[in-house]
Amino acid sequence: MKIFLDTANLDEIREGASLGLLDGVTTNPSLIAKEGADFRKRIVEICESVQGPVSAEVTCTDTEGMCRQGRELAKIHSWVVVKTPTTKEGLKAAKCLVGDGIKVNSTLCFSAPQALLVAKTGATYVSPFVGRLDDISHVGMDLIRDIVTIYRNYSFKTQVLAASLRHPLHVVDAAKAGVDVATMPFKVFELLFKHPLTDKGQDQFLKDWEKLKAR
Ligand code: E4P
Repeated sequence: MKIFLDTANLDEIREGASLGLLDGVTTNPSLIAKEGADFRKRIVEICESVQGPVSAEVTCTDTEGMCRQGRELAKIHSWVVVKTPTTKEGLKAAKCLVGDGIKVNSTLCFSAPQALLVAKTGATYVSPFVGRLDDISHVGMDLIRDIVTIYRNYSFKTQVLAASLRHPLHVVDAAKAGVDVATMPFKVFELLFKHPLTDKGQDQFLKDWEKLKAR
């Protein structure tokens, strides 16, 4: 399972990349706005920092506009993956961008039928949003499991990118479901490292080592 960071914060991305465990980054207009950065410049900086796929989202609402914007985004850097919404217009744009040889991430996917259509566009990724479904009392992980089953049934090439993950258990459940990619905020990524027994055990080993050296 690949690990992507869901952020536009350069410090977080550089720290993640320095660990050698990061495979890519997803952004969205809200995340870029939060950083107050210039959109184009920030996408280049992210691509250079992660050296892996970086999703950059279109903001036009009509198919033609999305295709035009998607082609421009794809020119920014070879690592750019164009994010299109899973709407009728977005799916049409995805199909057209895929036809141009551009990698697409179909975002804001909230149902299995939508995911089925995404696969048929030939998009590289489908992004089902787990946390936002949980927020409205639906089990977001059920959607992930359904999509993985459907994609396996037909050997669809589109990769399942579990998005809107809010805590480590989401990551574990996504991995158990067999997703290709999990994208998560930096704070969730950091939590993956933590276990109190690791800290306690390491502390004890180092104390005993000091005793050994003193002999
Ligand atoms: C994914 O590409 C999205 O940017 C993201 O996972 C949304 O997460 P949120 O629902 O926590 O905002």
